Amino acid sequence: MCGIVGYTGFRQARPILLEGLKRLEYRGYDSAGIAIQCNGGVEVKKKAGRIANLESNIRPDTLNGTCGISHTRWATHGDPTDVNAHPHLDASGRIALVHNGIIENYQSLRTYLEHRGVEFKSETDTEVLVQLIGHFYSDDLETAMRAALRDVRGTYGVAVICSDEPGKIVAARKGSPLILGIGDGEFVVASDAAAIIQHMTQVIYLSDGEMATLWDDGFRTTTLDAVPVTKEVTELEMTLEDIELGQHEHFMLKEIMEQPVALEDCMRGRVNVQDGRIHLGGLAAMARELAQTKRLILTGCGTAWHAGLVGEYLFEDIARIPTEVEYASEFRYRNPVLNPGTVVIAISQSGETADTLAALREARDKGAIALGIVNVVGSTIARETDSGVYLHVGPEIGVASTKAYLGQVLVLAMIALFLGRRKDLSQPALQHYLEALDSLPEKIRQITAQSQEIRVVADRFKDAENWLYLGRGYNYPTALEGALKLKEISYIHAEGMPAAEMKHGPIALITKDMPVVFIATKNSQYDKIISNIEEVRARKGRVIAVATEGDTEITRLAEHVFYVPDVPEALQPMVTVVPLQLLAYHAAVLRGCDVDKPRNLAKSVTVE
Ligand code: AGP
Ligand code: GLU
Repeated sequence: MCGIVGYTGFRQARPILLEGLKRLEYRGYDSAGIAIQCNGGVEVKKKAGRIANLESNIRPDTLNGTCGISHTRWATHGDPTDVNAHPHLDASGRIALVHNGIIENYQSLRTYLEHRGVEFKSETDTEVLVQLIGHFYSDDLETAMRAALRDVRGTYGVAVICSDEPGKIVAARKGSPLILGIGDGEFVVASDAAAIIQHMTQVIYLSDGEMATLWDDGFRTTTLDAVPVTKEVTELEMTLEDIELGQHEHFMLKEIMEQPVALEDCMRGRVNVQDGRIHLGGLAAMARELAQTKRLILTGCGTAWHAGLVGEYLFEDIARIPTEVEYASEFRYRNPVLNPGTVVIAISQSGETADTLAALREARDKGAIALGIVNVVGSTIARETDSGVYLHVGPEIGVASTKAYLGQVLVLAMIALFLGRRKDLSQPALQHYLEALDSLPEKIRQITAQSQEIRVVADRFKDAENWLYLGRGYNYPTALEGALKLKEISYIHAEGMPAAEMKHGPIALITKDMPVVFIATKNSQYDKIISNIEEVRARKGRVIAVATEGDTEITRLAEHVFYVPDVPEALQPMVTVVPLQLLAYHAAVLRGCDVDKPRNLAKSVTVE
């Protein structure tokens, strides 16, 4: 949720802040604003709508200064309006603040301040924080910030400037990410490295309960109690090209088309066909302990949860480890029973999803071994696990996850094979899987080459308002993921479920106007899925099928067939989802939807 960018240094802040916001716009985009120290005060401009709308409302002769903060919002408290947009000012107009997160006790704090004569302008929880800082402020911004944050309950990534302290930015985090970019005489604070990479590659990741003070010639990091903290400076792996659109129309299409390379990057140094092994450096030291665990829990949200469902089949089928999948938002609150030796794996592309982070912390509090499958290097979840495996699929900008989903499933498959070989999996069986994994990128290229054919089908059905996605076994999660893709970017209602479940109610929905997408590849349940297709046809449903190349029988049953190359059943989720990603993409574009920034969504859900 939301993007924060702050700059202090020797250059004009405005262009750096606006450019940085554009690179973070995928994180939240219902309103945006900027505040810069200039002419002895703090000047603010903020507007509902996209960053382009803010930019078009900024006069060239305003907001000129070398220290400022900015924000692109995903509203939690108060409509997306000009007044509710960030930055917010305190009553004196000297202090400006931007915030990512939720101030849970904002009502009581607001009442406290109103009783002391503070008049609020906005409906937001955030304004309470800046007014509280203003209430405590005498002559030092850090001191006032510490005092205010002690009274706050909730989550924050926050950056503040004050006109009485030129060149200074004070930042703090608890539950929402903040990264410091360390330059030569200039510094950036941001929610995400995408706003930093253009200016510097040396970064510091703030941890919960830490503060940073930046000047135009230095910085310091402390705890909220003013205890100095020495932070490791790391080198960003990301490149500018990774986060630019290139010749593609949308980031989502770019990232779908990048999937072959993304899988090659994910497997590099890990899948070794020649020596018949899987190398997972992060797990090597605990391999035996992991292989012997009596219980494995996979947890995540949304698409990451779908990857976890594939993982359940993989770990039980290949590694023979009892496995459960939990919605992180449920797991974190249900006081789960975890026994010593239980392994919990948090799956998260961003590594910042609030529910998944909380589930991970719950697992650690209960003594479980906590691992992470994460894409963003240095993210909070990655830093709070005992160990883990990075996806290495490159930054994912499109709000709808595509290459990261494939990366999550691939890493789960690699871990299942890595542990399975330490149990019942034979070397020949492992070798078979390694060769199949090695061939995946080229096979996915064959599927993405069908994009225009898939677009034709999307065009034909784009006006149907209710779709069903049905799959069995390893492809049941594919049905869920295909449905989510369509829902979240084209706003069409779609429901995924196990194909056999259709008979227990949803079959009542089938009409001649309902597209029903079957994942019907050749595997152990093929005959069963064919029966399910017949059941839908008998009720005039419109059948679209994902099938294995060479399957001619399916053409008798389906109006449209998306063929995918044959792969072992356990790896089919990594090929069968690709046509469904393209189907959703094209349907959304044809319906005129904003594919990369769908309404109401944001890329990283850092609030509950
Ligand atoms: C996926 O298309 C969605 N944007 C969403 O469900 C996402 O998978 C979920 O919010 C989890 O995000 P994470 O992987 O960054 O934790
Ligand atoms: N809770 C704050 C608001 O609604 C911040 C939301 C965000 O993280 O963008 O303004």
